[in-house]
Amino acid sequence: MTSKHWVLGCLIVLLLFLLVFFIQNTQFGFQEKHCQRKLLDGKDKSRKAALQILTPWLAPIIWDGTYDLWILNNQFKGKRIGLFVFAVKRYIGFLLPFLESAEHYFMVGYNVTYYVFTDNISAVQKVRLSNGRILKVLKVEADKRWQDISMKRMQILVNLTHDRLPKEVDYLVCADVDMVFNDHVGAEILGDLVATIHPGYFLAEPRQFTYERNPASAAYIPYGEGDFYYMAAFYGGTVEEINKLSTFCHNGIVADKKKNIEAVWQEESHLNKYLVYNKPTKVLSPEYIWDTNLPNGDLVKKKRFLAVHKNHKEIRN
Ligand code: UDP
Ligand code: GAL
Ligand code: MN
Repeated sequence: MTSKHWVLGCLIVLLLFLLVFFIQNTQFGFQEKHCQRKLLDGKDKSRKAALQILTPWLAPIIWDGTYDLWILNNQFKGKRIGLFVFAVKRYIGFLLPFLESAEHYFMVGYNVTYYVFTDNISAVQKVRLSNGRILKVLKVEADKRWQDISMKRMQILVNLTHDRLPKEVDYLVCADVDMVFNDHVGAEILGDLVATIHPGYFLAEPRQFTYERNPASAAYIPYGEGDFYYMAAFYGGTVEEINKLSTFCHNGIVADKKKNIEAVWQEESHLNKYLVYNKPTKVLSPEYIWDTNLPNGDLVKKKRFLAVHKNHKEIRN
């Protein structure tokens, strides 16, 4: 080979190298991949999590800007939505702002039935409801302990999703009452089995998740398993899927009670257990449960469903 050939060979290699560099680092290349890698390489873990819009089992994680509402509304047109909520004892005080904010932001344009369970039906205040929306107030006995009231929701759900809901709604959304809707919540949350990432743990490593770690509990999740820590203040799905979920959670709660134990975060622990082994088909980002006391709020552009700050001692007795 002559030196001329050598120079030509080197030049071609150099040109190829430059071409690859150009493709990877300019708008002509894979800009998104590049951005993601740049951020993943960095120490900015927050942005890494904020970029996650797909679970490892390829379910979408819903953030603002990831969906086209017009397309989704066409897909879910005519579906009937239930919103299930407990307002027992002092928590009845949260009900009016909850319902009023839901009228503004929750599933606007859809047929919505509110299923409110309370121990004090006469204390439920009148709410102005838009067309196509109805309120059903149902009686539930008040347990002594707040933990039992909170867990009782699973038992009520088992019956509700078995007896009357199959005829009345297509999707059921279950929520805490000590919350207010603060921005749009619509068709993008509908799916077979949908859960929300806990806003306190969306940047946490799985080892930090507050799953139940006692092997004696039905809610036990060993270290090394689990994908997200979900919050029980907002989840949903088809009536059939919520029936399966609530049956699993209620059975776990009953089994624990027989052993005289209670999972660390009550029904939320059982919900997390169920969702580790029955993956949600859609995951909601912390936009769908936020608390203004939490850090990293700058990463969560829309705060669609906000916790109302409460005095625990006063409200839970
Ligand atoms: N709840 C209720 N009355 C009570 C305790 C709880 O109605 O005395 C219901 C209510 O819907 C509440 C939910 O159970 O939002 C969960 O309890 P809480 O909100 O206190 O739990 P946290 O969100 O603080 O963990
Ligand atoms: C808290 C929340 C509890 C429970 C817990 C899980 O912030 O108030 O309801 O979700 O996190 O660690
Ligand atoms: Mn709550």
